Amino acid sequence: ATTETKPPLTIRLCQPRGFCAGVDRAIQIVVLALKKYGAPVYVRHEIVHNRYVVEGLQNLGAVFIEELSEIPDDHHHCPVVFSAHGVPKSVPADAVERNLFYLDATCPLVSKVHKQAIRHHRHGRHVLLIGHAGHPEVIGTMGQLPEGAVTLIDTEDDARTFVPADPEALGFVTQTTLSVEDTAHILEALQERFPAMQAPAAESICYATTNRQEAVKETAPGADLYLVVGAPNSSNSRRLVEVAERAGARMSLLVQRASEIPWNEIGDIATLGLSAGASAPEIIVDEIIDAFRARFDVTVDLAVTATETEDFPVMRVLRDVELTPA
Ligand code: F3S
Repeated sequence: ATTETKPPLTIRLCQPRGFCAGVDRAIQIVVLALKKYGAPVYVRHEIVHNRYVVEGLQNLGAVFIEELSEIPDDHHHCPVVFSAHGVPKSVPADAVERNLFYLDATCPLVSKVHKQAIRHHRHGRHVLLIGHAGHPEVIGTMGQLPEGAVTLIDTEDDARTFVPADPEALGFVTQTTLSVEDTAHILEALQERFPAMQAPAAESICYATTNRQEAVKETAPGADLYLVVGAPNSSNSRRLVEVAERAGARMSLLVQRASEIPWNEIGDIATLGLSAGASAPEIIVDEIIDAFRARFDVTVDLAVTATETEDFPVMRVLRDVELTPA
């Protein structure tokens, strides 16, 4: 038998990558609720945008629904968890009306953006929300205020064409998972037109988004291929693919599992950049590294660009569960 020599490959592995504190907390809430109350635990919307995570929770007894009306009448005592992306005010109100027991897994950093939007509104400002149309976080943030109080600004074009009722009374917030660079451009366009526009008291793009983008930006130049582990509906993951491309990776792709790696299209590569979106579990990063090890002589080069210490505690009602071993 001939021993084939594998071509060498350096994997530049981003750190930080993958799960953020908000995703970690949301998953914990579902797991702890299952432990405390038993199955089923209903979850409104994908708790985080990752199929692997969703299927894992389904196996434990979580039932995913899109609307509260899907919960059968005889299951109204079962808890229902709201996803990390946040929900419009109408959703908890609807839950109360239906006599449901809900656990809100909205990331505290998303709640902070909600509060900033409400604060602008209280000061009599029309709110501009920079974000992506249709994303659940955008739906949730817009739904904090009455119809018409918020205008979504999705593109630089929107920023240039938006016509306010009163240009002196504007405030902005953004989605937490946007491209830092694109958002800066949109904000410049808005600030140029509306110098009186008020900023939120704190940056809306979250630490996890910023850190993951920064790590990709540093590791992308000269990479022959860049892979980002994440789902197509994950905003922060898709932004990482864009960042890699702009920062100089020859090719950059979003993959959910190792099985999605298009080996035939990759060609000869010597350097691979690798990161994972905030909703992508580490086990898939391992799976991808293993898939490359099977074909290449891999050296993993850990690129540490930030240290994250954020840790968001679960709500009080679930804290006693944590302490009891499984
Ligand atoms: Fe929260 Fe940012 Fe993660 S808003 S859910 S910490 S991506």
